[in-house]
Amino acid sequence: VHNDPSGRVRFHGHVPERDRNRLYNESVCVVAPALNEDYGLTVLEAWQQERPVIVCSDGGGLTELVTDGVNGLVVEPTPFAIAQAVDRLCNDPVLGDSLVEGGRESLAVITWPGALDAFESMALTAAGDHDSPTAPPLSMMKQVPAQLAELNDYIAGGFDRVSGWMAAAPVQTLRDLSAAQEQGGHVAEIGIHHGQTFILLALLCGPDEVAVGFDLFENQTENIDGSGLGDREQLEQNLAAAGVPDNRVILETKNSLRLEPDHLLRIAGGRIRLFSVDGGHTAAVTANDLWVADRTLAKGGIVILDDAFSPVWPGVGEGMHNYLRHWSCELIPFGVVDNKTYLTNAVSAAEKYRSVLRTERDGYQLREDELYGSPMVCSKYTRIL
Ligand SMILES: C[S@@+](CC[C@H](N)C(=O)[O-])C[C@H]1O[C@@H](n2cnc3c(N)ncnc32)[C@H](O)[C@@H]1O
Repeated sequence: VHNDPSGRVRFHGHVPERDRNRLYNESVCVVAPALNEDYGLTVLEAWQQERPVIVCSDGGGLTELVTDGVNGLVVEPTPFAIAQAVDRLCNDPVLGDSLVEGGRESLAVITWPGALDAFESMALTAAGDHDSPTAPPLSMMKQVPAQLAELNDYIAGGFDRVSGWMAAAPVQTLRDLSAAQEQGGHVAEIGIHHGQTFILLALLCGPDEVAVGFDLFENQTENIDGSGLGDREQLEQNLAAAGVPDNRVILETKNSLRLEPDHLLRIAGGRIRLFSVDGGHTAAVTANDLWVADRTLAKGGIVILDDAFSPVWPGVGEGMHNYLRHWSCELIPFGVVDNKTYLTNAVSAAEKYRSVLRTERDGYQLREDELYGSPMVCSKYTRIL
């Protein structure tokens, strides 16, 4: 192949690895526009060489690796869209840096042991293993909490004896939102710390519902932003003290970046009606965790996102923005109470839940507004001097 007449395109042909890495390093970004690629090695190379990567929406394996705005850009397969994306990266180094950071986090979880686990579970499924994923039921009947006395004690003040960041208003709000739901389902949390929210979720469960929780626990070296400090022993003590029975709870030590929605559906045995997203507070982890919640949520289920508007965790807002702007997102926000932002996947349910959030509370400012075109009921404790 000859160089193009403009002199601005250079075809290198085969290059040895060292030259290839140098070429990556000299680039503003890497464009991998292949059609229906079976894996997507170029993306891994770009992440490894810390360059932002652009792929096309018909890229097959390439698009399985890249989440738009999180660890790369996914664009329409047209010269104009690709050129626009290159232009964006040339003019917005901050965006480039954040995609590189997202790429670094994504790359960290692509390991041979992980590939082996995925392969083993697919092979077992193909062989008809009993634990293989079966289609979880789409909906469950609504149930009343199985341990009402323990739930009332916890809401009346028990939650204050567990280390955490929840004030009384979000605790009561979660109980009221749960009561307003029309369908049953399991409950889940990513990021448990000592269990302040998780215990509440577990106590809201009906007799056939389970509480599934994921945290890094002892693997705190992977807690890249230092949000909270999971402690499984302390959590188990707190669960027992609050009267949560062992068989109500499924705990896994896991980095949520390695959590597949299907895995959660399988271990829970069905869809999730209340999902607390409170793990890593970076943009990439937040977008990932919202994706897991979105893919596993029951119809009318509620996602409780921590710190989306916190001045000290700006990454959460960025991650929420990136995910809510993603074409595959089905979540709509409907309100905020203190540090918790609430989202659901059904417009009619959102309307019902907003009426729950209109509760007047002493010292609270209550406002109606909108976010991404969705009506919001927002309230925050506001000390007026
Ligand atoms: C803010 S704390 C959670 C607070 C908790 N929800 C509560 O109610 O008290 C954040 C937790 O997320 C965990 N974490 C941080 N990054 C994580 C990740 N990538 N995957 C899973 N858990 C993570 C930390 O170990 C920590 O326990």
